[in-house]
Amino acid sequence: MDIDIPGLLLATETMAQSIAMTKGVSPRISKDDMLFDFLVRAVFTTDQKKAVEAYFNGGEDCANRFAALVHEYFPSGPKNVLEFASGYGRVTRYARKVLPRTEWMCSDIHPQAIAFLSDELGMPGAVSSTDPARWSIATSFDVVFALSFFSHTPDKTFAAWVARLFSAVAPGGLLIFTTHGAVSLAHMRANGRQDEFDHRGYYWNSNSDQRDLNPEEYGTSAVTLPYVQSAVAPLNGAELIRFQQGFWWGHQDLYVVRKPKVA
Ligand SMILES: C[S@@+](CC[C@H](N)C(=O)[O-])C[C@H]1O[C@@H](n2cnc3c(N)ncnc32)[C@H](O)[C@@H]1O
Repeated sequence: MDIDIPGLLLATETMAQSIAMTKGVSPRISKDDMLFDFLVRAVFTTDQKKAVEAYFNGGEDCANRFAALVHEYFPSGPKNVLEFASGYGRVTRYARKVLPRTEWMCSDIHPQAIAFLSDELGMPGAVSSTDPARWSIATSFDVVFALSFFSHTPDKTFAAWVARLFSAVAPGGLLIFTTHGAVSLAHMRANGRQDEFDHRGYYWNSNSDQRDLNPEEYGTSAVTLPYVQSAVAPLNGAELIRFQQGFWWGHQDLYVVRKPKVA
């Protein structure tokens, strides 16, 4: 389907400005943002302007949910957060509102996203890699957060990404991530797909919201708790302290992995 995303963004600019002003965040949505593109193409197909509202409201909801979650573990807020797979800042733009004393850094596979985050939101970022072995970051973080990244990760890199991101967690800190799980698979089946976990608790199809990425590197995955436990088990000192089914959007599962204060 041919959709003029820059034209839509221009036509909805005033609306975006008014929504963003009430929320106190940047009104800019990047024309390259595949998540916005997905909302327009696949979700709000009959009223594309609603995608703009959903982008701002959804980002705010996720940021509030994340802040409430981390306050359970860091009552005065974490010192710093790495938002991995941040995209073009759907959630990031709320960072200073929900966690005003926290230093925030981003990482994403799209170099344009990292440039957008820096230019438009003043957020530092680092370009990621498809290969977890080639990703590293100089700092360590109280919280490493990956929202809806492991819901798209192939089996071949899943455990390696858990390990890599855990390596960026400071002692006493947390790795927080979401996955598709049993509830997500049930939703897919309700839409007519015959989807099941394999014997290891892993499911994959090559559809995704990021149509510019290689579908072998980024598709749609779903995993069970035992599958994630086996990714966490080899990590020195890692303690899976929370699993909550359907915590995010009513279907993505939440995982919280703690790094001990002294490894
Ligand atoms: C479903 S989107 C979620 C974006 C953001 N977390 C949010 O909720 O708005 C998944 C993101 O993962 C990013 N991504 C895909 N592969 C990646 C990789 N290997 N390293 C870092 N980011 C990646 C995509 O560019 C995209 O921004």
